[in-house]
Amino acid sequence: MRSTKSQPWRPLTSKCCSADDHIIFRSFSRCRPSKSEFSKNIAPMPSFRKFSLSDISRSSSARINEDLAQSFGQDLYDFQLGELRAITQNFSSNFLLGEGGFGRVHKGYVDDSLRPGLKAQPVAVKLLDIEGLQGHREWLAEVIFLGQLRHPNLVKLIGYCCEDEERLLVYEFMPRGSLENHLFKRLSISLPWGTRLKIAIGAAKGLAFLHGAENPVIYRDFKTSNVLLDSDFNAKLSDFGLAKMGPEGSNTHVTTRVMGTYGYAAPEYVSTGHLTTKSDIYSFGVVLLELLTGRRAMDKKRPKNEQNLVDWARPYLISSRRLRCIMDPRLAGQYSVKGVKGMGLLAQQCVSLNPKDRPKMPAIIETLESLQNLKDMAVTCGQWPGSPKSGRYVGPPNRMRRENGFGCKSAAAVAAASPRSK
Ligand SMILES: Nc1ncnc2c1ncn2[C@@H]1O[C@H](COP(=O)(O)OP(=O)(O)OP(=O)(O)O)[C@@H](O)[C@H]1O
Ligand SMILES: [Mg+2]
Repeated sequence: MRSTKSQPWRPLTSKCCSADDHIIFRSFSRCRPSKSEFSKNIAPMPSFRKFSLSDISRSSSARINEDLAQSFGQDLYDFQLGELRAITQNFSSNFLLGEGGFGRVHKGYVDDSLRPGLKAQPVAVKLLDIEGLQGHREWLAEVIFLGQLRHPNLVKLIGYCCEDEERLLVYEFMPRGSLENHLFKRLSISLPWGTRLKIAIGAAKGLAFLHGAENPVIYRDFKTSNVLLDSDFNAKLSDFGLAKMGPEGSNTHVTTRVMGTYGYAAPEYVSTGHLTTKSDIYSFGVVLLELLTGRRAMDKKRPKNEQNLVDWARPYLISSRRLRCIMDPRLAGQYSVKGVKGMGLLAQQCVSLNPKDRPKMPAIIETLESLQNLKDMAVTCGQWPGSPKSGRYVGPPNRMRRENGFGCKSAAAVAAASPRSK
């Protein structure tokens, strides 16, 4: 289980370990689907044969490259380490974009001088930290999933490199980086409400694509750092190292070791290891809460009762009067009152404790799209302190007032006055 910031990941509970996590999809030479099968987005997934990790680790990098090249052909470029060194100035810190559990990410440029037909473009090169806790399995899962999954709301994998112990991934470059950076980095300009909604819709479409396949893919690591943004704030999901094929046949879930990131993982998945697409819906709800409040899913720097965003926010989600108490102060009332009410309600449904009460992705997209272009801005309709019609703004006598000027009750008082949430 990862903490929200680039910590090593490990199982949260030991009771839910199963052999399942020692298995990964592989479509190598002994079971190779035809090229045409691969072009059908995720349809060929079930034809992947399952191999044990030990089996994979016995494969040489030459064999892996040969198998991947045969499987993906020209859909993915097979780069050499020397080439990726050259395009990133030897992985120079000047080209560093960020660092996560897998390793560092550097910017580089590719064009057809590297491979005939390769489009001239900036790329992001992710380099496995050999000392880290992620490894070949996550690298391979990323290549296999992203190598086949193509959708405007999934980041495009351009190629990979497997040389001796080195494992690298080459993606399209996303100029605006991650949603996490925009929401939480102090120096970034606050994202306007309309942009937050647009990002939520884009990310929802990415998840809907994964869940909507004949054989659904469970993403398992939906969080703000994995939502990347292009120059127009179109959202694309990245990081498929934890992704899993959904249950097959009459099975209702897949059982797996609990992995993911603290604060985002669904409670039933954490306690049982049973993974369904509804686990992703819970994580999606957590991200909606982050978009509304500007707070991290898990923030150890806050007082104990405010560290877990879902627990803290839940009692405020039932009405727009309460919801405004937890709205991101950086929005300064520049949001649609109906819009945040709709998103708050949706977030509440997504983080329902009973997975059956969580909506499906198509319904989520429909709701979010219906909230676009609303003009009832809190600041102009007197719903924000200091706005002309409110006449309510009184200094900052307590912490809540300092944050948003409403003099809201504490979370504990709100929770005590709330009907028991689902
Ligand atoms: N395709 C990309 N284009 C631009 N920047 C990227 C790209 N991929 C990753 N980054 C940057 O690199 C950072 C690290 O990404 P990475 O996915 O390795 O880790 P993370 O998501 O922050 O953490 P975790 O390992 O827990 O998923 C991102 O936050 C982002 O700023
Ligand atoms: Mg990531």
